[in-house]
Amino acid sequence: PAPTTVHWHGIRLRNEADGVPGLTQAPIAPGSTYRYDFVAPDPGTYFFHSHVGVQIDRGLYGALIIDDPREPGDYDAEWVVVLDDWLDGTGKTPDDVLAELIKGGGGHAGHGMGMGGMGDPPWGPGGDVTYPHYLVNGRIPVAAETFTAKPGQRVRIRLINASADTIFAVALGGHRLTVTHSDGYAVRPTETGALYLGMGERYDVVTTLKDGVFPLVAAPFGKQATAARALVRTGSGEAPPPDARPAELGGPVLTHADLAPTDAARLPNKAPDSVLDVVLGGGMGNYAWTINGAAYGKNSPLQVTAGQRTRLRVSNMSMMTHPFHLHGHTFAVASTGLRKDTLLVRHMELVELDFDADNRGSWMAHCHNAYHGEAGMMIELAYRS
Ligand code: C2O
Ligand code: CU
Repeated sequence: PAPTTVHWHGIRLRNEADGVPGLTQAPIAPGSTYRYDFVAPDPGTYFFHSHVGVQIDRGLYGALIIDDPREPGDYDAEWVVVLDDWLDGTGKTPDDVLAELIKGGGGHAGHGMGMGGMGDPPWGPGGDVTYPHYLVNGRIPVAAETFTAKPGQRVRIRLINASADTIFAVALGGHRLTVTHSDGYAVRPTETGALYLGMGERYDVVTTLKDGVFPLVAAPFGKQATAARALVRTGSGEAPPPDARPAELGGPVLTHADLAPTDAARLPNKAPDSVLDVVLGGGMGNYAWTINGAAYGKNSPLQVTAGQRTRLRVSNMSMMTHPFHLHGHTFAVASTGLRKDTLLVRHMELVELDFDADNRGSWMAHCHNAYHGEAGMMIELAYRS
């Protein structure tokens, strides 16, 4: 019953198909049709979602997997695991919650540095909303999806954080995970017991399965809540209780800073031709979130020149962690070379993100917390003609 659009998150597609209302298209009216026509240039794990208001927090999203015909695929099974935070239909809608946050009424505003037993938390507060449910593939922990396989099989797990307001720490009880891709791009295989995913981020991991029944857990960072989970069954036995917490979540939890790209995934070496400042600001006070000092529409577009290596100097001057997302391009984190389209940026952190301005059009750069984005933490990236 509402106008909507579809954004193809992370895909370097033609601007007309990017799905941003008021920038690349008019919203699709109820009952009408819009055709998205584009070539997907890069294989990997992506997702698509509404780009209107906080519709993403009503579940208007889906996984988008682009297979590489040249990929050897040395695994026996491939699972897609989508993480979400959920409140729609529990008495309030996401639009009610946004209105409350802006009004400062904030019955839902439970923020703080929750430790959650996850060791040293690298993030400041990452979310503003306390959700009644956290989901894996649309299911609550007591009704978890069960993946089945045989002991000894190798599985590739494609993790997608489709939530609006939640950073998750993910672990598979009893297993080590080898991270192979971040936001679709190959990384040097890196082993860990657990890893963080910010809103909009994707990571692929592979692991060799043991014999038994294991919880695949996504613990909301900094929120007091029952973690989301699926089950992995390779043998007989009782399922662990719905609140079972893998020991791996108490060990080191990998972040993007622990990863490096494969040589093929690197951007060619080049000094930036131009440098643009992107300052993330704002706070819970009046729930005003800004980029470069003003809310979207009041800030001036970032101006890039076609053909130039462009560096974004993203500094987070707010108290929270924000998942910074760029449309239409993928950037390389200057310090590591890691290719991504969405990156968690901590309080007072400065990250330099390099990309080639090779895709003309009007694009968005924004915080992938759906509530922050709607409250203004977005900016346009425009090409000089
Ligand atoms: Cu998935 Cu503009 O975002
Ligand atoms: Cu944010």
